[in-house]
Amino acid sequence: MTIMEEQITQQKGRFEAKVTFHKKLNERFYRLGLLLEGPGASAFEKTIPGQFAQFDVSNMATPSPETIPQDLKDVSTRQVILRRPFSFARVIKEANKTAVEIIYQVLGPGTLRMMTLAKGDTVSVIGPLGRGFTVPQGKKLALLVAGGMGFPPLEHLTQFLTTHYRETEPIAFVGAKSRFDMPFEKQLDEISRELEFSIAEFGRYVVRSFLATDDGSAGFKGTVIDCLLDWFTRNNPEPAQVVIYACGPQPMLARIAQIAAEKQIDCQVSMEEMMACGIGLCQSCVVKCRAQTPGQTIYKLCCKDGPVFDAKDIAF
Ligand SMILES: Cc1cc2nc3c(=O)[nH]c(=O)nc-3n(C[C@H](O)[C@H](O)[C@H](O)COP(=O)(O)OP(=O)(O)OC[C@H]3O[C@@H](n4cnc5c(N)ncnc54)[C@H](O)[C@@H]3O)c2cc1C
Ligand code: FES
Repeated sequence: MTIMEEQITQQKGRFEAKVTFHKKLNERFYRLGLLLEGPGASAFEKTIPGQFAQFDVSNMATPSPETIPQDLKDVSTRQVILRRPFSFARVIKEANKTAVEIIYQVLGPGTLRMMTLAKGDTVSVIGPLGRGFTVPQGKKLALLVAGGMGFPPLEHLTQFLTTHYRETEPIAFVGAKSRFDMPFEKQLDEISRELEFSIAEFGRYVVRSFLATDDGSAGFKGTVIDCLLDWFTRNNPEPAQVVIYACGPQPMLARIAQIAAEKQIDCQVSMEEMMACGIGLCQSCVVKCRAQTPGQTIYKLCCKDGPVFDAKDIAF
């Protein structure tokens, strides 16, 4: 069965997941481990990279006042009714259980509440939802490009490619504002960086990775796009054998789509629109796409038709 067919026949539902670990990576980033059992384990073991789950944060406690970042003090008491979408950084099948990991950035009342989760707590999750990345035939090289919090699904994609598509070599490019804005556990040392293994999360799969920071405080100085273009000046892969996968802010995705089109390279982008229902009912997550008739556009739903789209289909 192809990945696309697997996504269509996939079992989805609402499940309880148990927190197995909760690690603070830096001021605003956390890595959360969850364990699913029974039908939840069966549903999530087949999660395709780029798919997501809707997390119920409504009944989580608010953190103690001294741990709330200054800029979020005003929103910290806001009620959170809607579930919040998160993609996965890692999915591991363990006998009849499935362990999943997410990385989240504390941005508002929902993610603030998630800070209070502790080992043993349960979280209600709905998923796996949406359409994830696909792997076109004949690709020898997959260039994974992440900006900011676009990093988690590309870590998952690395795990997936190195397990199921060994003929496709992934290389990761990750951009952040500075070394204080990086959602990683730790960076590798100077020697590893010189060997092009900058980020441990990719090094774990023996996958090369490049880090770019806008202020040059770590890795390449410049945006992740500059870093990717710099790589292209030193490497000249056969376009038909390459696929680009990208996740990050929309202007970054638009530029990647343009570069891919110029180089005639297949490209898939994961769009992170604001979502409410997450299952195609409320129409709040529209993405403007090109229609088959040249010059015309149509609207698709990020939660149902995406979040991963062929870059050529998006009307950036
Ligand atoms: C498919 C999908 C996958 C995602 N995966 C991750 C992930 O792996 N890790 C992670 O940290 N976040 C991820 N997000 C974003 C995450 O859902 C939001 O950051 C979260 O819902 C914020 O909730 P909040 O209540 O804390 O803040 P809110 O008050 O809801 O938002 C705080 C601020 O963040 C902005 N924001 C909220 N959602 C988004 C969004 N989708 N895109 C851009 N800006 C947004 C808002 O405009 C606002 O300025 C994903 C979103 C989608 C749609
Ligand atoms: S979030 Fe409701 S339709 Fe997409």
